[in-house]
Amino acid sequence: TTPLRLGIAGLGTVGIGVVKIVQSHGELLSNRAGRPVQISAVSARSRDKDRGVDLSSYAWEDDAVALAKRDDVDVLVELIGGTEGPAFDAVTAALNEGKDVVTANKALLAVHGQPLAELAEAKGCAIRFEAAVAGGIPVIKALTEGLAGNAINRVMGVMNGTCNYILTRMQSAGLSYDEVFQEASDLGYLEADPNLDVGGIDAGHKLALLASIAFGTQLKFDKMELEGIQRVTIEDINHAADLGFRIKLLGVAQMTGRGLEQRMSPCLVPTNSPLGQLENATNMVVLEGDAVGQIVLRGAGAGEGPTASAVMGDVMDLARGSRLPVFGQPVDMLVDAPSARVAAP
Ligand code: NDP
Ligand code: HSE
Repeated sequence: TTPLRLGIAGLGTVGIGVVKIVQSHGELLSNRAGRPVQISAVSARSRDKDRGVDLSSYAWEDDAVALAKRDDVDVLVELIGGTEGPAFDAVTAALNEGKDVVTANKALLAVHGQPLAELAEAKGCAIRFEAAVAGGIPVIKALTEGLAGNAINRVMGVMNGTCNYILTRMQSAGLSYDEVFQEASDLGYLEADPNLDVGGIDAGHKLALLASIAFGTQLKFDKMELEGIQRVTIEDINHAADLGFRIKLLGVAQMTGRGLEQRMSPCLVPTNSPLGQLENATNMVVLEGDAVGQIVLRGAGAGEGPTASAVMGDVMDLARGSRLPVFGQPVDMLVDAPSARVAAP
């Protein structure tokens, strides 16, 4: 049988997690896919860095674009990050070569996803991005497979672990936003640009991806009502608690009579609801389908193992020959959504 040969671009937290799964689960993957799944070549900035895994049997490329174009690479696994530069160039190069792409890069897709999806379609190949939304939670597969028979009414969720950590820790420890922000920074939770987290942008990227899948619409990150958690005070949190609510950075996307509404903002959720009980850096996604009703998915939204788990789910789909459409039809976007900041579940 023909193996599926991967080129891994980026050997940081997620890239090394993927290498570890391929190395430790070779037989299991091959049995499940019906063909071997193997790594041909890898790429990162520094060849000399000790990454704690044996990479000696893989070809090395300094340049991610060269990796994408290699004859022994069937699928580019892009785990570099960033909206421009090597991630964008390598993904574009792979698609132009007619190769499938798996990526965890929500920022790249939120900004360039629509034209990249159109390029993929023109070239007859796929871009898969389960890891880009809520890390280890297989929410895109839930929508595209298990819930494929439902019209989706609404998707909601807490999709940035850093913000959820900050908000829950402010409450549990009675600390100010600035104190907990520093704590999150010391724990290494924050993105290199912390505004991506606390400004709601990272979560907004994820919601835009999720909404486009849920409602079969084109991807529109710029048409989102977006507000971060920087202005949430300990007094806000305490007042909310007195009334039986907790404050969460909540994303909501729903189709209305006037178009698709996408909102990422601090919201009140009932303390005794699944979302209200969500602690620390955990993520939660709530899906509402017309036939199934409400489904709640909860799990790790980041980290080596969880994110690599989602990447490998996509790799396994490709190994089995599964093809899914990405990013569907143009739709009116509702950007002046009334800010009803109390969520039901
Ligand atoms: P890291 O910063 O840990 O790793 C990035 C990797 O990219 C490094 O190995 C780096 O090389 C490599 N790199 C940087 N520039 C280049 C270049 N020019 N050419 C080739 N390689 C390059 O990132 P993460 O693993 O944390 O994240 C990867 C992606 O996954 C991002 O898009 C991120 O948003 C996404 N993601 C991450 C999650 C997480 O929990 N970490 C969760 C969900 C998504 P070197 O090591 O030599 O410096
Ligand atoms: N900064 C992100 C978070 C990483 O805190 O959720 C995972 O996408």
